[in-house]
Order: sequence, then C-alpha cells, then structure tokens
Amino acid sequence: MLYQVAQDIREARTLPATYYRDPKALDTLREHVFPVVWHYVGSEDQCPEPGWLHPVTLLPGFLDEPLLLSRDTEGRLNLLSNVCTHRGNILISENCKRKEIVCAYHGRRFSLDGRMLSMPFFQEAKNFPGASDNLTSLPLRSLGPLLFSQLQEGLTFEKVFYPLFQKLFWMDFKALKPRPDLSRIYQVRAHWALYVENYLEGFHIPFVHKGLNSALDFKEYSIEIFPGSVLQTAPASQPEEGFEAPQALCGQRPAAAFYFWFWPNLMLNFYPWGLSVNVVVPQSLDKTLVFYATFVCDEKKMGRGAGAELHRVEMEDQAVVEQVQRGLRTRLYTSGRYSPQLEAGTHYFHRLLAHFHNDPCNFSILDYDHSSNVS
Ligand code: FES
Ligand SMILES: [Fe+2]
Repeated sequence: MLYQVAQDIREARTLPATYYRDPKALDTLREHVFPVVWHYVGSEDQCPEPGWLHPVTLLPGFLDEPLLLSRDTEGRLNLLSNVCTHRGNILISENCKRKEIVCAYHGRRFSLDGRMLSMPFFQEAKNFPGASDNLTSLPLRSLGPLLFSQLQEGLTFEKVFYPLFQKLFWMDFKALKPRPDLSRIYQVRAHWALYVENYLEGFHIPFVHKGLNSALDFKEYSIEIFPGSVLQTAPASQPEEGFEAPQALCGQRPAAAFYFWFWPNLMLNFYPWGLSVNVVVPQSLDKTLVFYATFVCDEKKMGRGAGAELHRVEMEDQAVVEQVQRGLRTRLYTSGRYSPQLEAGTHYFHRLLAHFHNDPCNFSILDYDHSSNVS
C-alpha cells in the first residue's frame, strides 16, 4: 500500500488511520530507514578512562543492535560491534574495565579498538585473520558530551545537525553535564508515530498542558522546518525564566525553550537549565518506549520555566496520544486535515513517513542547499 500526503498543507489530508495498523510500514522503517540515520548512543562519561567498556543496545526492541563503547589505551572512544566475529557471541554484557576484549565462548581476543589479536586452534585456517575478523567500528561524532552514530553510511552528521549548529551557535555544549540519575524510560501504549506527531505541534499546548502554557507565550509560538528536522520555539512569558544568552531569542524576546526534532525519532529539548534528550523507540504497532537522558548546565534554573515539569508534561502527552491510539481503531474515521498555522511540523513528519514508506532508500528528500533553508 502506498501513502500520500499532499505537499500543500492547506489542501493536505493527514496520514490515514490504516498507516498506524500497517506492520509493513514499521518493517520498512526498521530495515531501510532507521539504520541510516544518526542515533544518540550515549555520553562520553560512560567510558571515563582507558580500558572502560560500556555495552549499548541501539534502540532496544526495534533495531536491537548490540554495540560496545570502548575507550582505548590512547584514550580515544570507539563504537564497536559487540558481536564476536567468530560465531556471533555477545562479547561484553556489563560495564567493565579491561586491557582487551576477550570472547567468553572460544577465547578470541580483540584490542580495545576492535582489532582481532589472537584465536586459539586456528593455526591451520587459511587467509586468517582477515579484515572481517576485526570488530566493525562505527563512526562516532559528538555534541558536547553526547555521542552519535549510524549503522549504515548515508546522511552526514554535519548535514543532519546543521540547523542546530546554526541556531544554537552561541551555546556551550561542553558545559552540559550528564545526569544519569535523572534519566527515565517511559512506556507509551501507542504507535511511535502518534507520539512524534504530537511532539511536532504546539497546537495542543493550551488544551493539554496548562502549566507549560503559562510558561510560554503561545501567540508567538514558532515552527521552522529544515530537511530532516524541525525547530519549535516560543518566548518565555516571564523573560527572566528564558535563556540568558542575548542571541537566544524567539522573535525579540528570550526563548523559553528550543525544541529540536530530527527525523525520525530524536528530540533535543534545550532549556535554560540544560538539555533533555528524548529517543522514541517503536516496539510494535501499539507500544513505544521513550528514553529520556538529562544534561544540566545550570542547576539553579531547574524547576523553572518551560522545562520545569517535564514528567507532568510527558504524562499529559502520553494520555492524549494513547487516546488517539484508541480513537484510530474506529471504523468511522479515515483521516483529517491540518491547521496551516500550527501543524506544519506534523504535516512535514507525515510527508516523510509517506515518502520513506513508498521509496525507502531514497534519501534525496533530505538534501538541501543550506543557505536557502536556514536564516
Ligand atoms: S564466538 Fe567468540 S570465540 Fe567463538
Ligand atoms: Fe505536548
């Protein structure tokens, strides 16, 4: 089945309810789209010293990719496959400090940067070892302490995050300190796309989030669309609760927050106190996990402004998203219309979902001439 969402939001209809019941749509994304995008994979502090190994499952329950963050003897971070190149055993299952990586199944040894060092009882094997006996090493890029990677080459990191670097050029990302004690995992009984499309419109804020609505000036809410990302901002209703940096404006006033979304499932929410990273992980057609990672740069601003009550806002969002999940089971609704003023982000997301469903390997829709899209 093909999906169509018209380019002109004034005429477009939303994705049909059948999309959210289509297992093939989810399979297509898992096989062709998610492996190519840049994922948040953790933070530098998870391997504080040479020899530290930190296993990471990338998008658990969806991609389920076993990876291993390691800091080698030179102090460099590596992101490796956590699967032994002999017969596929998982190498490391807990954080630990080691001089080398040793497979517990038949004793294959690897250096901390993934080179195969030795293997017992392989003296007679021909053309051994070869390049494929080393652990696959994935690209690793950082934004302050945050680490990102992709499983398959495609989009470049610079292109994907270009709007963020342009808009938040004034921000000191290195000042963001990981706070694993504030991390959370939420379970949502809804299709992952319903969670994301709700995030991409501020339309519901006055209706669903009374507390958040009082912290920002909804009349000035702004949405900017870039290829593969969306930025939402609003001025703080009280300027002293907004960002202090003179460049951190929404219109002429201090911004309350910068809500960045990156196709398909990553949200970087910047508040005056720091950053809340949200990773949305599909589990099935009606279950989603949302991972929250928290980074703080100014502790005394926590509990104030638009980033004050994230748990409460999350609960309010989940309640409405789960209701939509139930609503879409009806026989009496097929699709709806968009508010041209307030639902451009959701419309863009739906267009990407339709595009990548119909033509999953064609990433040209995310190409752009930087200068024409970012002011
Ligand atoms: S699977 Fe690792 S040594 Fe055999
Ligand atoms: Fe919301």
